[in-house]
Amino acid sequence: MIRECENSNIEIEIKDVSKVYEGRTGSSVALETVNLDLMHNEFVTVVGPSGCGKTTLLNIIAGLLEPSTGYVKIGGNVVTGPGKGKGVVFQQYALFPWMTVLKNVEFGLKLKHVPKKERTAIAESYIKLVGLKDFCNAYPKELSGGMKQRVAIARAYASKPSVLLLDEPFGALDAQTRAQLQENLLNTWAQEKKTCFFITHDVEEAVLLAQRVILMSARPGRIKEIINIDLPYPRTQQLKLTREFNEIKNLLWSKVYEEYLDHIK
Ligand SMILES: Nc1ncnc2c1ncn2[C@@H]1O[C@H](COP(=O)(O)OP(=O)(O)OP(=O)(O)O)[C@@H](O)[C@H]1O
Ligand SMILES: [Mg+2]
Repeated sequence: MIRECENSNIEIEIKDVSKVYEGRTGSSVALETVNLDLMHNEFVTVVGPSGCGKTTLLNIIAGLLEPSTGYVKIGGNVVTGPGKGKGVVFQQYALFPWMTVLKNVEFGLKLKHVPKKERTAIAESYIKLVGLKDFCNAYPKELSGGMKQRVAIARAYASKPSVLLLDEPFGALDAQTRAQLQENLLNTWAQEKKTCFFITHDVEEAVLLAQRVILMSARPGRIKEIINIDLPYPRTQQLKLTREFNEIKNLLWSKVYEEYLDHIK
């Protein structure tokens, strides 16, 4: 009911989206009738068993993949291709190895023909925001995995998208770096709100970051449940020590595990 009243505030509308992949051995249904609205500036995390269609859904929102049925609208416009208003961050750092941090972050702005002086200033401000101001002239090979992901986040932010789509962006990092990047992303989001669609396998991460967690069911992927995380922001790692956090985390963990067991039956 609340959704009806807040219609004008919807940033991403996912309507009856399904995806069937046609393969050599026949067709397989990756997503089945997914309906979901993300509100303007909302932070949503997505969890579910491996192969349940999370990346497929993200790629459809990003315009990298066409749905078999249904549509996705961003800001009221049907998504027909990549770019325009969407920043994407993948698990593997998709940085250009031959470009410095600054050039990597500037890249999208250059494509948009933003004048040199202006794009450098924008890029520098986001590099600073992710805590890498001393590394503007470094090359990706000179950075740690966590630093590379921060560059990827700065780059996504620099092109000023309305939505940020993140596919297990911290999945390849050690626990401490991951914790640091979670806080960094929360701080960045607090300073400059975006609608975030963040996929993770880490239930603790899902609860720490999100206002709502979307639990997807095993193949074919559907939305099984949406869990509201009514914990106040700003959130830091300290939150993980609280009883409220752990109650939600344990509940979500058991739901995810239940779904996984169903999946392997
Ligand atoms: N290009 C493709 N062609 C055929 N099938 C595909 C293709 N991409 C994905 N699939 C299938 O669609 C299903 C969903 O894949 P997807 O990558 O979206 O899952 P996921 O939830 O992101 O998994 P993970 O958690 O392991 O990243 C899987 O069964 C996968 O085998
Ligand atoms: Mg995936």
